[in-house]
Parts: sequence; structure tokens; C-alpha cells
Amino acid sequence: MEKHIVLLPGDGIGPEVTKAARQVLQAVADRYQHTFTFESHDIGGAAIDQHGTPLPDDTVQAAKKADAIFLGAVGGPKWDQLPGHMRPEKGLLGIRKQLGLFANLRPVQAFQQLLHASPLKKEVVENSDLLIVRELTGGLYFGQPSERRNNGQEVVDTLAYERHEIERIVDQAFQSARVRRKHLTSVDKANVLESSRMWREIVEEKKADYPDVTVEHMLVDAAAMKLVTNPSYFDVMVTENMFGDILSDEASVLTGSLGMLPSASLNEQSVGLYEPVHGSAPDIAGQNKANPIASILSTAMMLKHSFGMEEEAEQVQTAVTGVLQEGYHTADIDLKNGVKVSGSELAAKIVDQ
Ligand code: NAI
Ligand code: MG
Repeated sequence: MEKHIVLLPGDGIGPEVTKAARQVLQAVADRYQHTFTFESHDIGGAAIDQHGTPLPDDTVQAAKKADAIFLGAVGGPKWDQLPGHMRPEKGLLGIRKQLGLFANLRPVQAFQQLLHASPLKKEVVENSDLLIVRELTGGLYFGQPSERRNNGQEVVDTLAYERHEIERIVDQAFQSARVRRKHLTSVDKANVLESSRMWREIVEEKKADYPDVTVEHMLVDAAAMKLVTNPSYFDVMVTENMFGDILSDEASVLTGSLGMLPSASLNEQSVGLYEPVHGSAPDIAGQNKANPIASILSTAMMLKHSFGMEEEAEQVQTAVTGVLQEGYHTADIDLKNGVKVSGSELAAKIVDQ
């Protein structure tokens, strides 16, 4: 198969982990006789420096024509003083919005080899395998107005959803649950928020369409607690934008590091943008310390969701597990008996496998 992939390396460790992702995709192409072509574009702080905007038109146009998009990460202290609309994060929010990437799938799987790397007890982490389905283009992160008022003495952010936006993410979550263990937990704050009460109503309406899936509602604060006390309880969790952002970083402790979590963001045509869950990690950027696994697992999601290459995706997963099995890991993983290597060394070992 021929596929055209747009790479958006971004800032900080973004370019390092994007390089690893590309190497793995190339290895898959070589092994399975596919032709993958790559085209890189600027986003985030890198785009501000080069073009004066976090999301140049060129980048959007290229992304719209791609078969799939890979994004590293954006942001960093260099751009922190810029006004809100000029910040690197606007590039990321902008591309999600422009491509209509409303469904963010974040699988969280505890690797057997890394059970001791989690600060949680082994018995707690063991067997956890869940999927967070996060709404990505609505809610607080896109709410208008979002502004300071009264000479800076008052501030407002807005949490808004339209019915169809909730319906489509809930459908996505039910469909994901169907091909997993068929248990859906809808996470909200319906005891306080009107948006959550509508969310709950829609989940209730939709469940008749998916009789094979069991559904429950859970308040976000309780869900946050259960995620670290009994994570194997969960199969699929569906939630709005901000709750999903926070819960997925929290869930990363199950895997031992934020550097292990991949994600896929899909639109209604299933054009996908794939990115690690972590940010640009300015504290370790340029030191070849970044864990490439989140990015490499994101390429596995790309192969599966955007290209329908199930076997290739499985092969990437197996390579990651194999390298972990041999004890190799980057510095973010706290393992006593492992072999600590650099980010590029770890990527090379995964490519070899
Ligand atoms: P972060 O996710 O960049 O880093 C949090 C901690 O995890 C840091 O100690 C970092 O060194 C570590 N870490 C993250 N990824 C790692 C990896 N692959 N390997 C090893 N260690 C890793 O979050 P932080 O520090 O809050 O934000 C830094 C910048 O990233 C900010 O400008 C923020 O706005 C941006 N950001 C961007 C995101 C994106 O592009 N999708 C998502 C989250 C934050
Ligand atoms: Mg986050």
C-alpha cells in the first residue's frame, strides 16, 4: 500500500520522538513492502519562530491531504509569555478543530515488564487495560468567551457543548467498548454541572442502540480515585475534554511513565492524527532522554486505525514488548534491574525487533 504521512514534530522533545516514530514506520514499510512517504511541517513554537503563527496555513493544507498525521508535542518556556491566542498550544487546538478531530482514544495498558516501575502496588496495576475516550473539540478548552474582565479583577471560561457533539463521542465510545470487554463508564460531574446532566441523558438515550454493552455513570472525582485504587475495574471510559485530559495523565502512572501513553484523534471520516499523550518535556529536551515508546505505540494506532494494517500494528506492539522484556528502558522508567539506554538507542532496538 502507498500512504502519505504528514509529520508535525513541534517543540522540545517533539522532534526526537517524531524521528523515532518515522524510523518505526519506515521499518514497517520495508518489512511489509509498503511505500510510506513523509512530509514535515511546522506547528507550535517552531511555527511561531518560523512563520509568526502557531498554525501556518501550509500545515493545515498538508494535514488535510494526508492519509495520516503524526504530531510530536508543542510548547515550552520560550513562548510562555506570549498572549493566549499566540501560544504554541493554539496550534494543536487549532489543528484538532480544523480537522474535526473530536474523538481522542487513549489506551492505557500496564506492561507486565514494567509493573515494578509504577509507584502503585503491583497487585493494583496488574491486568489494567483500559481505554479513555476523550471529547477533543468542545468544552472548556474551546469555550467562548474565555477572557479577563473588569481590569483583570474577573475571569471567565465557558464550558459549552452542542447535543450532536456529545452524541458522536458517546457513539464512538460505545463502538470502542463493543470490540473490547463491553463495559462503558461514562464520567461526568452531573451533581454540579448542567453540561454533565445533558451528557448523562445522551448516554442513557444511546444505550438502547448498544444492548451488548453495559453502561454506568461515575462522577469524575470518584473516577479519579478508582483509577489508581482499582484500575482493572475499567474497560472504556468516555468523558468530556478537560476531564479526559486530566484522567489520562493520571492513568499514565499505571504504565510507569507519561512517556508510554499513545493516542489517536479521529474525525468522522477517520482521518487520524496520532500523538503521544505527553507534552514537549522542556526539562529533558535535546538530551536524548525522551522515551519514544508513546510515539511508537501511536504509530501502531495509525497503522491499525488509519491504514487497516492490523498485522503491522501488532508487530510494532510486539517489538515494544520484546525490547521491554529484554530489560531496556529510558531514564523516566524507574526499574532496578533494567538496562538504561538513551531515547535513540531504545528506538533503534525497537526498529531491530
Ligand atoms: P510534559 O508532558 O511535557 O512533561 C511532564 C513530565 O513528564 C516532565 O518531567 C517530562 O520530562 C516527563 N516526560 C514527558 N514525556 C516524556 C517522555 N517521552 N520521556 C520521558 N519523560 C517524559 O508536561 P509539562 O511539563 O506540563 O509541559 C511542558 C510543555 O508541553 C508545556 O509547554 C505544555 O503546554 C506542553 N504540552 C503539550 C502537549 C502536547 O503537545 N500535546 C500536551 C501537554 C503539555
Ligand atoms: Mg494532557
